[in-house]
Amino acid sequence: MDYSKIMSMFEGKNILITGGTGSLGQALTSKLLKSKVNQIRIFSRNELKQIEMEEKFHDDRLRFFIGDVRDLPRLELAFEDVDYVFHAAALKHVPKVEYNPFESIKTNIIGSENVIAACITNNIEKAICIGTDKAVSPLNTYGATKLLMEKLFVSANNYLNEKRHPTKFIAVRYGNVLGSSGSVVPKFIDQIRKKKKITITSSKMARFSITMDEALNFILNSLYHGKGSEIFVPKIKAYEINELKDALFELLEDTGSETTGIRTGEKLNEVLINEYEIPFSWEVDQMYMILNPTLNKKSVDDLSKIYQNIKKVDQKENYSSNNAERIPKDELMKIIKNADLL
Ligand SMILES: NC(=O)c1ccc[n+]([C@@H]2O[C@H](COP(=O)([O-])OP(=O)(O)OC[C@H]3O[C@@H](n4cnc5c(N)ncnc54)[C@H](OP(=O)(O)O)[C@@H]3O)[C@@H](O)[C@H]2O)c1
Repeated sequence: MDYSKIMSMFEGKNILITGGTGSLGQALTSKLLKSKVNQIRIFSRNELKQIEMEEKFHDDRLRFFIGDVRDLPRLELAFEDVDYVFHAAALKHVPKVEYNPFESIKTNIIGSENVIAACITNNIEKAICIGTDKAVSPLNTYGATKLLMEKLFVSANNYLNEKRHPTKFIAVRYGNVLGSSGSVVPKFIDQIRKKKKITITSSKMARFSITMDEALNFILNSLYHGKGSEIFVPKIKAYEINELKDALFELLEDTGSETTGIRTGEKLNEVLINEYEIPFSWEVDQMYMILNPTLNKKSVDDLSKIYQNIKKVDQKENYSSNNAERIPKDELMKIIKNADLL
């Protein structure tokens, strides 16, 4: 994919990122500032995180909006004159969300509904929400709330087409971002540095993995290709937790490990596309795309007029960290080094 073409779509545009102070929000901001974007609005609650980000970036194309996605009037004001919305704000820590389900419903579901409503009233061109593999056949509350976020984005588009409204709503879904806030790699590194045993919930665990750079390129690619109502899924590999452990021990020091037992709501494997979604799944430009049933009824010829180089996914089984290509230890070591996590 020609990324200069993608970056040129932001020329002179105003962008808003909900959750702009988070791991993804900051990395995305840094990437988008390399384009000829007119303005990037950061929308989040914590003022200190915003002050720190403002000092770190020091760019007058950035604007900082204190606000909560639960507050629709605030979102509507913040979205004025915006072209593209990236919806990244969420409560995402599985145990926290499990313990505070009402709060996660307010932020992840009602908040997403509000983002959609604010897009509608402000004629936003495209809005993209950031989903997770935990939303596929969800076992925990976090996954269930993110599943509903996806559903809201997909169906917002159907409703909006009827009303002849311009906003195209797009969803992306991917696995763990290596090194993002709260992820297992910084936690293990911290334990090793403190000479503690690393704590593994189950040695049978396997997880999809994507680097922040790959996630950013995938999100921008999806925004560029999205015509509305698609769920885009990247083609990524998975690692086994024991491989990650060995990679970190080799890079740092072997402090040993202990198994703490699988947590409530935790799966041994994550799924990016379940078997019931496979018949609706297509390959386009190095990624998968799950189409809504209406679009999926169209012939390949008709779909080819909408999407270039489209190909039906022909595998029968789900796309799971259990059957995905593995990242071997040496490659994991390289990824961790390149991601500057040590
Ligand atoms: N990290 C991963 O591995 C991963 C994988 C797949 C998908 N995702 C998804 O990617 C998105 C970003 O993840 P991340 O790792 O960047 O998360 P993060 O570092 O925890 O950032 C979350 C952001 O959301 C903001 N936020 C939380 N509640 C809010 C609310 N009610 N209103 C407005 N802003 C709110 C936070 O700022 P304040 O607290 O100041 O409001 C922060 O800026 C999430 O939607 C997550 O589900 C992440």
